[in-house]
Amino acid sequence: MYIFSKIENVKDFLRKQKKSGLSIGFVPTMGALHQGHISLIERAKKENDICVCSIFVNPLQFNNPGDFSRYPIQTDIDLKILNEKGCDVVFCPDNKEMYPKPVTKKYDFGMLDKVMEGASRPGHFNGVAVVVNRLFKIIQPDRAYFGEKDYQQLQIIISLVMQEKSHVKIVPCPIIRDHDGLALSSRNALLSKHEREIVPLIAATLRECILLAKNSDVNDVKFFVREKISAIPELKLDYFEVADETTLQPVNNWSDSKNIRAFIAVYVGKVRLIDNMKFIL
Ligand code: PAJ
Repeated sequence: MYIFSKIENVKDFLRKQKKSGLSIGFVPTMGALHQGHISLIERAKKENDICVCSIFVNPLQFNNPGDFSRYPIQTDIDLKILNEKGCDVVFCPDNKEMYPKPVTKKYDFGMLDKVMEGASRPGHFNGVAVVVNRLFKIIQPDRAYFGEKDYQQLQIIISLVMQEKSHVKIVPCPIIRDHDGLALSSRNALLSKHEREIVPLIAATLRECILLAKNSDVNDVKFFVREKISAIPELKLDYFEVADETTLQPVNNWSDSKNIRAFIAVYVGKVRLIDNMKFIL
């Protein structure tokens, strides 16, 4: 496994591989790797000649300084995992390398970033788009792999690629969950034992609301979720939305769209967890 921290070196290396006709699959991450990330690595390996993973905790996408300083970092363990999983190239730049100058770029994502994560975390998606665009320019992948866990991020990246007229194919990958249904997340490592026992309720509530949707209207489903979460003192609902999968705009009736998802963000103490699930209507 090749490990690079300098842009010029990884660029040079991958340019040579591309010249010899090899395809590149890319998985951008912020490290603290778990089975969710690994599922993307495995898919990228299967569908490409070379699998590249980046590890960079991108300060631009943290609107909350506490969240940034608490973000788990375990680079040595991550490199060991990536090596074992057969990743070919890892790119782990530092801040100066990625951002030698202050960033002024402002993307326009229309309504995509005005809702849910975009509304709750001002500037977050602009920061994501800046780093992903830079990483794409450096790595020049044929395909890039993103988890549906961050569903709104996935839609932002699809919009970014269109705006940049980039040829990178974006491959959405399903959410990987723990045995009790909790969506895997690097932030799960920050939960206390007690909190970890409570949080499977988030995915369980989503599952219940998917079933409930068959015989209830959208407002009933929203009421159900709010009641369920507010009954647990350790949990604080940030938002629950029922929205179209592509536009991410809220729907009021099941007939408003063919592809509808439930989206949730919950605070557990200082930790903020997100999850989503598709309605089968
Ligand atoms: P990070 O949170 O490390 O996630 C990296 C990728 O792993 C994202 O595409 C995310 O959706 C995916 N992922 C995380 N948990 C998952 C799960 N349980 N199942 C499936 N996929 C999962 O997302 C980011 O980093 C950053 O915003 C990044 C795109 C790297 C830009 O900084």
